[in-house]
Amino acid sequence: MQFSSIKGFKDILPSEALTWQRLQEEARRIFRYSGFQEMMPPLLEMTELFSRSIGEETDIVSKEMYTFTDSKGRSMSLRPEATASLVRAYIQHRLYEQNPIQKLFTIGPMFRHERPQKGRFRQFHQIDAEIFGDPGPRSDLEIIVLGMSLIEAVGLTGLSLQINSLGCPKCRSGFRNELRGYLLGRKEELCADCRRRAETNPLRVFDCKVETCKTVVSGAPSILDFIDKDCRIHFQALQEDLQVLGVSFTVNHMLVRGLDYYNRTTFEIQTNRLGAQNAVLGGGRYDGLSKQLGGPDHPAIGFALGMERLVALLEEQAQPETHSPDIFIVGLGALAEKKVLQWVYELRRQGIWVEMDYSSKGLKAQMKRADRMGASRVLIVGEDEIGSGKAVLRNMNTKTQDEVSLENLLQNLRKVIV
Ligand code: HAM
Repeated sequence: MQFSSIKGFKDILPSEALTWQRLQEEARRIFRYSGFQEMMPPLLEMTELFSRSIGEETDIVSKEMYTFTDSKGRSMSLRPEATASLVRAYIQHRLYEQNPIQKLFTIGPMFRHERPQKGRFRQFHQIDAEIFGDPGPRSDLEIIVLGMSLIEAVGLTGLSLQINSLGCPKCRSGFRNELRGYLLGRKEELCADCRRRAETNPLRVFDCKVETCKTVVSGAPSILDFIDKDCRIHFQALQEDLQVLGVSFTVNHMLVRGLDYYNRTTFEIQTNRLGAQNAVLGGGRYDGLSKQLGGPDHPAIGFALGMERLVALLEEQAQPETHSPDIFIVGLGALAEKKVLQWVYELRRQGIWVEMDYSSKGLKAQMKRADRMGASRVLIVGEDEIGSGKAVLRNMNTKTQDEVSLENLLQNLRKVIV
């Protein structure tokens, strides 16, 4: 029997791995100079952490989590996102005591049992960044610009920023009542789930993918007509700061995002090149979550970027990146091979990617292998060369050759390669 990977769980193949690495390197570089520290929470948490933070009525918690009961009867889930775990860790390890404003990031796999399609997987990866401790709109600005900088740094273009404000729990309750009334007035057009949601958690109707529900929602009242003065000032200040930095954005009052913990600012960076899965990055403010999970009443804001989606867009935009040896050393004959072996390990220790052939084949076969690997240079060493102390170094790109001295070979090679 031959095994295949599970539906929705994808191998990241060597041909894609370089783009993944570059994305992570850029993220770590940008996070470092923006004052974010990396942490790595576990992949498994108590189910209740997610149901209490993301919300029982959300698609993520009600339908999509990989949940099981362990031998002690406790319900555990593979994390569907990272924010809840980071807040749990922030509270558990009292990270706020080290610094009143904590900036954290994490990179890793998340799990959601969704229907797989283009840009949507059951195991996917996020780059997630959060700022804890600052209630003001300048942190909203910082987190949004951070996400945009990361996308720009890897060279992705053609994306748009959408922002919204969900107000605070106080102003949202007025909106919720209005929305409930509107939805119940059009109850017949809603799917069974949304009829229930209209009563229990009407904002979640915005997440529904059913066409008739989408039509109903497109005529729904706007949250922006309900937010109070403080929430309005906050949202206005963010928009002014975005303009100061020359960041274009669209205000989209439908952007409620599919998680219950948000308040005030929500945002997404979207593309129109991934079909229905248009969000490359999404986030927002969640000022009440730390308190709700038993921690201090500290505000927070963050985002998560979907790595598969970003990589797919990058690959569509440019040739996949390749990686090839700096030099291939052809050793001909037992004596030369032994010498080559020493040089190979010495050069690798010096950070030069060097390859040799272990099969003692002839010159033609070894040259073919070097060519197939895309080696930039090939050094050919036989017994004659060992005797004369000189060998030919072939530049595979320009097809020219030079003679190099085997005495001080490592220094000579370093000069041409670095
Ligand atoms: P989210 O919108 O659920 O937010 O996910 C963020 C990003 O993860 C999405 O924009 C998308 O790029 C990617 N993503 C989500 N689901 C999938 C999937 N099934 N397959 C591929 N990519 C996917 C959150 O997760 C929040 N925790 C973001 C946040 C951080 N809010 C505050 N801080």
